[in-house]
Amino acid sequence: MIPPRRTRRYPFTRLPLGRAWCEAIELADGRRFILRPMQPSDAPTLRRSFLQLTPEEVRMRFMHPIKELTPQHASKLATIDPEREFALVLVEAKPPDEALIGAVVRVAVDNDGQQAEFAIIVGGDLKRQQLGRYLLTRAIEWARKRGIAVLYGLVLDNNEAMLGLARSLGFTRHPSRDGSGVVEVRKRLNPR
Ligand SMILES: CC(C)(COP(=O)(O)OP(=O)(O)OC[C@H]1O[C@@H](n2cnc3c(N)ncnc32)[C@H](O)[C@@H]1OP(=O)(O)O)[C@@H](O)C(=O)NCCC(=O)NCCS
Repeated sequence: MIPPRRTRRYPFTRLPLGRAWCEAIELADGRRFILRPMQPSDAPTLRRSFLQLTPEEVRMRFMHPIKELTPQHASKLATIDPEREFALVLVEAKPPDEALIGAVVRVAVDNDGQQAEFAIIVGGDLKRQQLGRYLLTRAIEWARKRGIAVLYGLVLDNNEAMLGLARSLGFTRHPSRDGSGVVEVRKRLNPR
């Protein structure tokens, strides 16, 4: 059996599951999750999990208020185009009809094939446990392997948590040109 990895940086245990991008994660309080690529069958779980989010979390992630995820929206989010998208979900290690998704990170490659946009959410009391940092680090790893030159994210300019996380991973902040209150955080991954 492979010994669990607990690094100094992350206050949780990670156990590789023998499939690409799949790990079991156990938090310091004993809660267990599976981190794995998003799959189309996650759509109903995404809808149930969305109901747990606060309006503020939704606004920070989607940039505008959304009351519920429609089946169509959930299906769109859960269906990943392997040619240009990547998404990981952190799902509770429980029976499928009970399990909720606690966090998601996703990357979508722009049409130019050079840049890619990320988006991330860590819900509720899973925050401030370095999960956001770990998920975004995995997204950076995927983008780097994919040859992406620049990874960027669009962030509300009062989103201190996301701006702090991005800064801590070496993203630089670029103010919006249109005064929309949305800033771009950018990180160069591969040389020109
Ligand atoms: C932004 C978000 C993903 C951070 O996730 P998280 O798991 O709580 O973050 P982590 O615990 O990994 O924190 C890593 C670093 O980010 C920064 N950070 C995280 N939360 C912060 C906060 N509330 N205030 C200031 N800095 C914060 C800190 O530098 C932190 O490092 P530290 O704990 O060593 O100080 C989470 O708050 C979230 O999902 N917010 C709502 C959705 C959203 O804003 N998405 C971004 C749109 S792209």
